[in-house]
Amino acid sequence: MAEPSPTPVIAGNWKMHKGPESARKFCREFIQVAPPTTGRTILIFAPALSVCTVREALSEHRIGIGVQNIHWEDEGAFTGELSAAMAKEAGATHVLVGHSERRHVFGETDEQTAWKVAAALAHGLVPVLCVGETIEERKAGRLEEVILRQLHAATTELDERDLRRLLIAYEPVWAIGTGETATPADAADAHGRLRGRLRERLGDHAAGVPILYGGSVKPDNARELLAAEDVEGVLVGGASLDPRDFAKIAAA
Ligand code: 13P
Repeated sequence: MAEPSPTPVIAGNWKMHKGPESARKFCREFIQVAPPTTGRTILIFAPALSVCTVREALSEHRIGIGVQNIHWEDEGAFTGELSAAMAKEAGATHVLVGHSERRHVFGETDEQTAWKVAAALAHGLVPVLCVGETIEERKAGRLEEVILRQLHAATTELDERDLRRLLIAYEPVWAIGTGETATPADAADAHGRLRGRLRERLGDHAAGVPILYGGSVKPDNARELLAAEDVEGVLVGGASLDPRDFAKIAAA
C-alpha cells in the first residue's frame, strides 16, 4: 500500500478523453511545466487504455496513476470490466470509486461502491471515494443526509486501519462540468460535515484523511478553494486535460 499522500492532493480525472498517443503527448508537455512534486501529491486518473502509457511516460516522476473505475470481482465473465488486480498490475496506485457519473449515468449503487472500495484495498490500491449531492437534493436541504449516507454506505464495513487509507472527494453534482463552482465556504461546509463523521470513527486520525473538492476547478479558482478549511486537495475534470492548466492548478 502506498504511503500516506502528502497534501495538497492535486488529481486530474481525464474521464473519457486521451487514448495512449494523446496521453503520451500530455505527459511530455506536463513534465516540462509541472511544479516540483515534493510536498504535494499529483495524481492522474487516465482511461484504462492509457494507464500503461502514462506510467511509462512518468516513470521518473513522483506522479501517481489511477483508474476511473473497477469491478469488485478479481476476474471472470464480466465483459468490458476491469478489476483492481488488473489495474494494480498495470501500475495504477489509486482508483476513483462512486464518481457522480458512475452513480448518475451508469446507475452505480451505494452497495456497489462498498464492494469496490473493499476490492481496491484488498489489492493495495488507494480508493478515492467520491460523494456529492444533486441540485435538487441541495435545494431540499438534504446535502448532509446525502453525502453522509454515501460515505457511510461505502465505508461501514471498513476497520479503522482501512478507513485511514481512503481519500474522499466531495464533488457536488451541480458543479461538475457546468462552470459553476461551489464557493470556498460551500466546500468548507460540506467538508466539515464529512470530517465530523470521520472523527466519530477515527478521532484525531480523521485529520489525516484528505478530503478533495471537485467541480469546475480551474487555474483561477484553485488557490482559494485549496485555502478553504478542511480542503486538502482538488479533483479536476476539464482543466486537467490541458497540461499547462493542470500544472497551474498543481502549483496553486
Ligand atoms: P470538471 O472539473 O470538469 O467540473 O469535473 C469535475 C469532476 O468530475 C472530476 O472528477
